[in-house]
Amino acid sequence: QKFSSIIPESLRSRTPPYAKLLANLAKVKQLTNNAPLTLAEKILYSHLCDPEESITSPNLADLRGAKYLKLNPDRVAMQDASAQMALLQFMTTGLPQTSVPASIHCDHLIVGKDGEAKDLPSSIENNKEVFDFLESCGKKYGIQFWGPGSGIIHQIVLENFSAPGLMMLGTDSHTPNAGGLGAIAIGVGGADAVDALTATPWELKAPKILGVHLTGKLNGWSAPKDVITKLAGMLTVRGGTGYIVEYFGEGVKNLSCTGMATICNMGAEIGATTSTFPYQEAHKRYLNATGRAPVAQAADIALNQYGFLKADPEAQYDKVIELNLSELEPHVNGPYTPDLSTPISKYAETSLKENWPQKICVGLIGSCTNSSYQDMSRVVDLVTQAAKVGLKPRIPFFVTPGSEQIRATLERDGIIKIFKDNGAKVLANACGPCIGQWDREDVPKATNEINSIFTSYNRNFRARNDGNRNTMNFLTSPEIVTAMIYSGNAQFNPMTDSIKLDNGELFKFQPPTGEELPSKGFEHGRDEFYPELEPTANADVEVKVSPISDRLQLLAPFKPWNGKELKTNVLLKVEGKCTTDHISAAGVWLKYKGHLENISYNTLIGAQNKETGEVNRAYDIDGKGYDIPELMIKWKNEGKPWTVIAEHNYGEGSAREHAALSPRFLGGEIILVKSFARIHETNLKKQGMLPLTFANEADYDKVTAGDVLETVGLIDLVAKDGNNGGFLDVKVTKPSGESFIIKTKHTMSKDQINFFKAGSAINYIGSIRRA
Ligand code: F3S
Repeated sequence: QKFSSIIPESLRSRTPPYAKLLANLAKVKQLTNNAPLTLAEKILYSHLCDPEESITSPNLADLRGAKYLKLNPDRVAMQDASAQMALLQFMTTGLPQTSVPASIHCDHLIVGKDGEAKDLPSSIENNKEVFDFLESCGKKYGIQFWGPGSGIIHQIVLENFSAPGLMMLGTDSHTPNAGGLGAIAIGVGGADAVDALTATPWELKAPKILGVHLTGKLNGWSAPKDVITKLAGMLTVRGGTGYIVEYFGEGVKNLSCTGMATICNMGAEIGATTSTFPYQEAHKRYLNATGRAPVAQAADIALNQYGFLKADPEAQYDKVIELNLSELEPHVNGPYTPDLSTPISKYAETSLKENWPQKICVGLIGSCTNSSYQDMSRVVDLVTQAAKVGLKPRIPFFVTPGSEQIRATLERDGIIKIFKDNGAKVLANACGPCIGQWDREDVPKATNEINSIFTSYNRNFRARNDGNRNTMNFLTSPEIVTAMIYSGNAQFNPMTDSIKLDNGELFKFQPPTGEELPSKGFEHGRDEFYPELEPTANADVEVKVSPISDRLQLLAPFKPWNGKELKTNVLLKVEGKCTTDHISAAGVWLKYKGHLENISYNTLIGAQNKETGEVNRAYDIDGKGYDIPELMIKWKNEGKPWTVIAEHNYGEGSAREHAALSPRFLGGEIILVKSFARIHETNLKKQGMLPLTFANEADYDKVTAGDVLETVGLIDLVAKDGNNGGFLDVKVTKPSGESFIIKTKHTMSKDQINFFKAGSAINYIGSIRRA
């Protein structure tokens, strides 16, 4: 049966191009002598621009972790904060429309405080210029525009676009959420998104594959969230770096599609390229429930050809982790890092030992990670149990629905009313408190007092939620967050403990129960929150950027490489964790995402100076101290290029490309670290910077701020197109005049060398397109 006869016109752009993918997969099978493939490999390799160019050996082990793949993603999704820079970069290519379907989602810029009725109009007013810019880009280039209040990017993608075998890029680090529906979805910066938007082959180093073998069945209090909070504890924030996490085994059959999405979503927290699940009955149920029965029919056919959409039985994983869902206990992860994992049975004891606050101040549920019908129906079961005995939440309780569709469904089924009747504040369908857009009132902003919050979100770096570095965010399932709000005390374990009621009786929660999908189907919700589904490009639309705007600024191209070795001064040596939140803070800075000059004033303000222990402090050669971006601007104006030195997993956490754009804009040329987070390293290359790692980690101790670093052999390396990675010597000259050579490593591919030579990836793409 032909795919084209199954898929109606209305679903064409939302169905993976199965016929093309299967033809590509057939070629791959030929090139590899029918070698068994993992699911992730099948999806990735079926998206190769030219399988013959990428697969040069039938032994796939030669490819993984070593060679670069050139891929053709099917779709791009962009959130409002990162879409600005992605689209400003797309504009510089001069192309009239995008080459693949794309969508824009206005979610990050919406404040969470009083609920949709108040928060949405004020957020729209405060961000009008940006939303207008994004909407006009949507109209001009034929991109779906999901306006403010429509929902969170990943929830909307799951409800509308994700599908088994799809490959998509998203300008947000939790894009892997779509893997819950069997897609390969990867978080990238705007410059990578522009590759896909312009049909430029998108490069990815062939990932290794980490198999997670699931057995058993979740029961009682355990939830899909616990799969990933447990794994994060086992693997750490770096454990998934360079890997795609692929789940398999009997246990998968017992998970819901939205539960799988939660697990994939937080795969970002272990640094994985992405995560995915094989095609299941649960996927079919979800596709049917979200109006995409023909996509499921097409997936059924695709599944039967070369076993596309599942791994071959003898597929080889680079590593396998065993997890028995039947034995899984709820976990609480934090504070300040998502891999500090404590089983709920040990939380009370650990919290005392670690001196974590015993009072829990606030509980927040929802977000892109956990606002499915299953999550909310299980949570409302707990709220109902408590209401029946007259128990009310003891601390503030916030609910963030992930989309208008889920909100409307919860409203129709009386769930929103139960939340509100029991003291919960239901916020707009947007990111809100998950990304610093939380106008928090219960704790003063400028306080040194540590406070503790429980959330069902995915990320808990310092200051992420409320801008307060002293807020400890503990990540857990929505069920555990909800139970905890009825106690407000870290010593409470809802699985075993009771709460004393006003009448003196003891109340103990029964394990939550809920429904996988709404029995009455999903509710569409308010029409004004839905975009034109098949927008066409219109060249007559004018995209306005005011020259005096402080929110948006047209981009000027970065200068091309001058053909010489790089000579830079070390401006800062960073100590410890340096995430993209440290390099390019969010919160109030989100406002300037579309204005490179203004947002650059936040560069590395969260970084700790190794030599002085100070945060946001760097010293000029003469010993005078400056805020870090201030010194960068000074050196830029003096024509003095610089380097930053740092430790492991530099740029961990997100696809935030400003963490690469701003240092480049302020005159940075080299970032030299013990190791990089994958997305950030790619982002640096895309902006024409040279990311290097110490070949010998101990050399980190030999280099200090004020040293001069000169590359030795860069010209040769460029001439050889990067050699697909290797070593580069760097000469270190101390202020005393003493000098020595250290060995560094780079991972530049031929195309990335071209970006470096041109000054940035966009310069390079633009030059090719214009030629
Ligand atoms: Fe938004 Fe937080 Fe998810 S910022 S996209 S709700 S991770």
